Amino acid sequence: MTTTRFLTGITPSGTPHLGNYAGMMRPAIAATRTPGVENFYFLADYHALIKCQEPERIHRSTLEIAASWLACGLDPEQVTFYRQSDVPEIPELHWLLTCVTGKGLLNRAHAYKAVQDKNAEAGREADDGVSAGLFMYPVLMAADILAFNAHKVPVGRDQIQHIEMARDMASSFNHLYGEHFTLPEAAIEDNVATLLGLDGRKMSKSYDNTIALFCPPEQLKKLIGSIVTDSRAPGEPKETEGSALFQLYQAFATPEETAAMRRAFAEGIAWGEAKQLLFARIDREIAPMRARYDDLMLHPEKVEAALQIGAQRARALAQPLLQRLRAAVGLRPLSATRPQAQGAHKAGKAQLPAFKQYREADGKFYFKLVASDGRLLLQSTAFDAPRDAGQAIARLQKEAGALQALAAQLAPVAGVDATEVTAALQALAAAADA
Ligand code: TRP
Repeated sequence: MTTTRFLTGITPSGTPHLGNYAGMMRPAIAATRTPGVENFYFLADYHALIKCQEPERIHRSTLEIAASWLACGLDPEQVTFYRQSDVPEIPELHWLLTCVTGKGLLNRAHAYKAVQDKNAEAGREADDGVSAGLFMYPVLMAADILAFNAHKVPVGRDQIQHIEMARDMASSFNHLYGEHFTLPEAAIEDNVATLLGLDGRKMSKSYDNTIALFCPPEQLKKLIGSIVTDSRAPGEPKETEGSALFQLYQAFATPEETAAMRRAFAEGIAWGEAKQLLFARIDREIAPMRARYDDLMLHPEKVEAALQIGAQRARALAQPLLQRLRAAVGLRPLSATRPQAQGAHKAGKAQLPAFKQYREADGKFYFKLVASDGRLLLQSTAFDAPRDAGQAIARLQKEAGALQALAAQLAPVAGVDATEVTAALQALAAAADA
């Protein structure tokens, strides 16, 4: 069975609040337990630099967000959980994609156009306050996705255009350099709960109406106490529709608990009492996670260790891919002759590297992998029987595709760059597929 790879980025530029938790983190963590899926979640700290130039805030937020996800139950064994800036292959791919992306495509990005429109309204120059980083945002995001050939990208509606752009970039690259990229698709969750904030508007950092996910219980109680309500007195029936308090309760309660609260509203529960129930309900879910969070914040090295495991896993995939991409675009060691002459694509088989089997003076059997130009690429150890050597070759040939990913981890033969070996194995894999 082929697994579907989900990948999504979280920009570390703030402290997670209850809205982030109910709308994004809780469902995302639940989704990682679905069979047949593979999940890549990462902290998009390079993206954070576009909006935030306060080093301490970036650093703090990275820790808070990583600790929050871990505290909420993200299992770093099950999810490849890493920090974007720990994977240098991402910015490297960003450049390769930049060079196949029309500037006009980026001109059309909603986020960029929105800033331009604002500038126009204010009578400023079109690009006033626009950094090249903001302009390039969609390319960096495409690199995030394509570096792992993710199939599905869970994002909000505001990000759909970015995924479409990533598809465009992947297609352009594939068209120019061969089929290297899977075209990603947006996975939109439409029934995401967006919570209302303290003032009754959507809970959002930009409205300053949030309740921090892991604030101390006393503060949680105080903030819940400050949620706006209407002036209905105890005993008067209350509206659930549009009530921030009710909606928050619903986001944490079971359907039965919600039904009971709905009745209590109809029966005129006092706001103070409803707030008390809301606090108790939220705290019941959050308290064990808060304890884990507090511990992680006291021991940031545990968070760092989790992220390093993720970075290693991420790089084990991105590194061989980038090696292939570099070779594909023509960034190859000069010791390698051009693997394929002009038009060799059509000539086909003649250009393939080959396995050669032979016997040495020690009476043992060996094989080697020879490049199309006759240079030695791989050398086997000794086999007692020719059949064993033959079987090893057959297996290598059959698994050339998988091995190509491993090639980066093999010891190189003097004078041969791993890129050549990778390219040779890739050619074999393609021939086997054909
Ligand atoms: N742009 C996303 C956001 O603002 C964050 C992000 C960065 C992302 N890279 C990504 C999301 C790659 C999905 C895939 O929410």
